[in-house]
Amino acid sequence: MLLAIKYLLLLASVVLPATCQDPIRIVAVADLHGDYDNSLSVLQMADVVNEKAQWIGGNNTIFVQTGDVVDRGADTIRLYDMLQRIRNEAHEAGGQAIPLLGNHEVMNLIGDWRYVYPEDVETFGSFEARVKAFEADGFIGRYLTQLNMTAIVNRTVFCHGGIHPAFIDSRTGLDWINSYVHEHLLEYMESKGKYGDDEGVFGGHGPTWYRGYALGPEDEECPLLETALEMLGADRMVMGHTVQRDGKVHSRCDGKAILIDVGISQAYGRHRAALEIIGDKVVAINNGKRTEIKTTGKKWPSKLATLREEL
Ligand SMILES: *[C@@H]1O[C@H](CO)[C@@H](O)[C@H](O)[C@H]1NC(C)=O
Ligand SMILES: *[C@@H]1O[C@H](CO)[C@@H](O)[C@H](O)[C@H]1NC(C)=O
Ligand SMILES: *[C@@H]1O[C@H](CO)[C@@H](O)[C@H](O)[C@H]1NC(C)=O
Repeated sequence: MLLAIKYLLLLASVVLPATCQDPIRIVAVADLHGDYDNSLSVLQMADVVNEKAQWIGGNNTIFVQTGDVVDRGADTIRLYDMLQRIRNEAHEAGGQAIPLLGNHEVMNLIGDWRYVYPEDVETFGSFEARVKAFEADGFIGRYLTQLNMTAIVNRTVFCHGGIHPAFIDSRTGLDWINSYVHEHLLEYMESKGKYGDDEGVFGGHGPTWYRGYALGPEDEECPLLETALEMLGADRMVMGHTVQRDGKVHSRCDGKAILIDVGISQAYGRHRAALEIIGDKVVAINNGKRTEIKTTGKKWPSKLATLREEL
């Protein structure tokens, strides 16, 4: 019996990779915060790039970076360069890299430089050169203003902070958030965050700042998350932004909220972790050790009806 299972497994492992219906491999990595060396180490660990930072994901990998590449470290230019190059290489190989906006990207775009390190400014040559770089037509601003705030890949939602159901349009789902960002970001930048955000998408409860799913009480937050996922037709939400101090990926709400900001930057202790999703198998890769994140299929009562009443 055991032998038969072993044989079947062997057969399966030989047969599966040859079929063209392989599920895609989704890899997600969160906050990099100015640390090129450890970011590269994490991407290598997750088999996204090789030691020369070249794409090795082939045509079967979708890599998502959930924002906050900048601040708290010096390597802003090197990291944005690497991500743009990886995105091009992935595209050429038939794969995909999806960098998203985090709250620190938006902060730098509106001139909120509270977390910018002096060593970072030096890499630009001068303060003025860095200001120019983050303008809408600057070499970093041009790249950042094109990025989305959220993405959904095969029923997994990715964002920086968390998407409260109030930001989900019942007809267009996530597209509303991304379109809003592209319609309003320039006005928000030009007014240094004063105008252009009537709906609060860039604000403290918006998708790049929300911490409810990471920190709020589960009996309140899980029904909200369930509602958001129901509206989006998704199974789980993967988020950065809230640092997991032990350097490991954690999940809440029965595996529906997955928290992947493990503090990759030197500013947080240079931890190494990534998330890998293949089909419905969700695996945390913590410092090279793979642990499956399981769910029991629990469902929380959706709050959709009451939310509609409130509106
Ligand atoms: C999407 O996920 C489902 C399981 O949830 C899996 O069966 C399917 O192969 C996945 N599709 C791709 C393209 O990865
Ligand atoms: C993906 O790459 C593999 C290996 O290089 C190749 O055999 C396969 O045909 C490619 N699939 C597609 C859809 O391009
Ligand atoms: C941004 O998201 C929209 C859907 O919301 C998608 O159509 C578009 O291709 C995305 N753009 C990038 C650069 O990923």
